[in-house]
Amino acid sequence: MVVLALTILVGAVSVLSLGVLLWVICKHFWIEHIPEGITHPMRLRFLSCFLHLSMTWGMIFEKLGLCYAAQFASFLHDLKPLKKDPDVVVTDIHFGTVPVKLYKPKEPSSTPRTGIIFFHGGGSILGSLRTHHNICLRLAKDCDSVVASVGYRKSPMYKYPVMKEDCETATVHFLRSLHVYGVDPARVVVCGDSIGGHAATVVCQEVMNRKDLPKFRAQVLIYSLLQSIDFQSPSYQQNDNIPLLSWNLAFYCWCCHLDINSSWKSVIKNGKHLPPEVWEKYRKWLGSEHIPERFKKRGYQPVPPGPVNEDAYEEIKFILNATCSPLIAEDDIVSQLPETCIVSCEYDLIRDHSLLYKKRLEDLGVPVTWHHMEDGFHGVLNTFDIRFLSFPCSSRIMDVVIQFIKKL
Ligand SMILES: *[C@@H]1O[C@H](CO)[C@@H](O)[C@H](O)[C@H]1NC(C)=O
Ligand SMILES: *[C@@H]1O[C@H](CO)[C@@H](O)[C@H](O)[C@H]1NC(C)=O
Repeated sequence: MVVLALTILVGAVSVLSLGVLLWVICKHFWIEHIPEGITHPMRLRFLSCFLHLSMTWGMIFEKLGLCYAAQFASFLHDLKPLKKDPDVVVTDIHFGTVPVKLYKPKEPSSTPRTGIIFFHGGGSILGSLRTHHNICLRLAKDCDSVVASVGYRKSPMYKYPVMKEDCETATVHFLRSLHVYGVDPARVVVCGDSIGGHAATVVCQEVMNRKDLPKFRAQVLIYSLLQSIDFQSPSYQQNDNIPLLSWNLAFYCWCCHLDINSSWKSVIKNGKHLPPEVWEKYRKWLGSEHIPERFKKRGYQPVPPGPVNEDAYEEIKFILNATCSPLIAEDDIVSQLPETCIVSCEYDLIRDHSLLYKKRLEDLGVPVTWHHMEDGFHGVLNTFDIRFLSFPCSSRIMDVVIQFIKKL
């Protein structure tokens, strides 16, 4: 009897697993699109299916009330083994209440080193100290620097502004204790990818005016999320179904992080979440006329904003806060930002954030080093150390970032 029940159970689980796998693969081929400019399309297909498989199982467990989808997906992504390097000492510590992984070159140095405070990406729902471990290890080793990677609390368990507050707490703690870690106060760099780049620039904008703290020497922003206002710029239209960040996934992360009702989807897609005068006010910074023509060649249809949905506006207007959309911080803030390295990817949903922020910084006299990856897509950096699945572009991003930091 028991044997029979077990057999049925195992059979049912196998059929379900196979069904989920087939569903994910079919959905990938049905919806997602891999442009010719991306090298190794099969690797990207594999990565995309893995991401969606982990999220789909997560959704099943979420529906069963066991955990959030992203928690389960993160659990799977964190199974990646941590690399060791005999030249770098890695310690798990806390800055205040915030967990931090600290990377320090083993070799003693006669002079203080460069310090890097690093914020990982993952749309605020995924990513962790583990998923970005190898990136930080490499930064510490190749830049001969002390890296503090920040394990901020994620959505959907913790909503905006918890992530920002954790990042700020960790940063202030680090800046106050540089001498403990042998870091030169004149050479502290803030760095992040995707929403980690968002955290980097928000922290930079917030901390800059504090007289009691050393100033950042530079910021490194890798395909960063820099605004939460406009979802119809050219890159949103051109790259809406390109792995690893589709429009729908970005919107899902946005709702989780900002605690916004996902039923506003079509309102937001049509720009009806803000009144025309607000669009007009920020056009000088967000308007697609500020994006060079060569980035519109793959197609772009301007969407005139429809009449505002007042209820949506009421719920959503806090996104106009610069801690949510650092791209629209005032001139007197942006003009004081330190030298910046921006990495953008052509096949990235949020490519235009980088292009627009670059323009703002340059217009206000901030030195910008810009690297545009013609074959890059969102999230590519995380593949730089997965042997069979890595993309040449990820090594190039690592190299340009390391070069930039070494020259400071
Ligand atoms: C989201 O909006 C829908 C439709 O307006 C509503 O039925 C639902 O209760 C809302 N959900 C939450 C969590 O507020
Ligand atoms: C922006 O948000 C922060 C909290 O994250 C708040 O302290 C600040 O007052 C807000 N600014 C405006 C203009 O609403």
